[in-house]
Amino acid sequence: MSTLKALIDAALLRRQPLLKDASTNAYRLFNGAGDGLDGLIIERFDEVMIVQLHEQRLNYSDEDLRAAIESLHQRLGTRAVYKKFFLRDRGDVPPEIAALHHAPAPWIGQPVSPEISILENGLRFIISPYHGFSVGLFLEHRENRRRIRELSPNRWVLNTFCYTGSFSVAAVAGGAASVTSVDLSKTYLAWCRQNFTTNHLETEGHWFFCSDVLEFFQRARRQNRRYDLIILDPPSFGRLRRPARVFVLAEQLDDLVRQAVERLDPGGIVLLAVNHRQISRTRLEEALAATGRPCSILERPVLPLDFAGDPDYAKSVIARFD
Ligand SMILES: C[S@@+](CC[C@H](N)C(=O)[O-])C[C@H]1O[C@@H](n2cnc3c(N)ncnc32)[C@H](O)[C@@H]1O
Repeated sequence: MSTLKALIDAALLRRQPLLKDASTNAYRLFNGAGDGLDGLIIERFDEVMIVQLHEQRLNYSDEDLRAAIESLHQRLGTRAVYKKFFLRDRGDVPPEIAALHHAPAPWIGQPVSPEISILENGLRFIISPYHGFSVGLFLEHRENRRRIRELSPNRWVLNTFCYTGSFSVAAVAGGAASVTSVDLSKTYLAWCRQNFTTNHLETEGHWFFCSDVLEFFQRARRQNRRYDLIILDPPSFGRLRRPARVFVLAEQLDDLVRQAVERLDPGGIVLLAVNHRQISRTRLEEALAATGRPCSILERPVLPLDFAGDPDYAKSVIARFD
């Protein structure tokens, strides 16, 4: 227990710059092996903490874990702590785990409303603490969102696999001419629109497509739609219902990147990001080069300080195409 508390204290100390930043109140407080304990992730979303557990990997009893998290909860003055269980395939969640991930009653503290809004670099995002395993914002992209905001003025932006539209919001806030957001899920597209309005951004003049990204690219090709900033941050694995098929990123990466780059105007920029341990940044750059179109790498972003210590976790690259 004392080791666990010492590890959490050391992790907090490393994050002081973030904890003191008044423009951001959502960050990762404990990053598994990166902070010395594989199987434990703690994230803070303003008044809520989300604790992700991989119990098979943790050598602590329930009581010790709870005591350590309860002390952190007191120290930070959060209102609720929700517990989530790591699952390999989030498309195939056992009913008892799904029920837990949707329960309004927290593990520790008082229940909070189903939607809260957090602040990241001055932008607001809606978080749903008991919507499921994922609560609406992938924190590792904080600096990528800032870069997209900086790169967006006057650009026609395409945000594929947009999820709750955090990159779309960053692009519109940065002055994009128009932003197109594409996702398979109507729920996430509605959430994306809600993130626009939460930031007092107009949805008019922007596009929201409920579609498979590869089908979207085929239609965009027929209609000769073009963009000058494309965000490609696909999941590692996905299941499509109609037509029934699976999306396996490791197999489809080259095709996806090629189809995206075909839609890019000269001078256009791509942010390519993956969260897949077996896909390296070199592999991402190979996929960009395999399009055959001359390109220069503008940036190889490093993960923010709250994700340090685990470089295989997520990688991204920003490239410009002639
Ligand atoms: C890992 S999230 C992407 C994260 C997102 N780029 C962000 O900024 O936070 C995966 C998203 O891709 C969507 N998705 C999965 N397969 C898809 C497909 N074939 N076409 C379109 N969207 C898909 C899911 O609905 C989900 O919203």
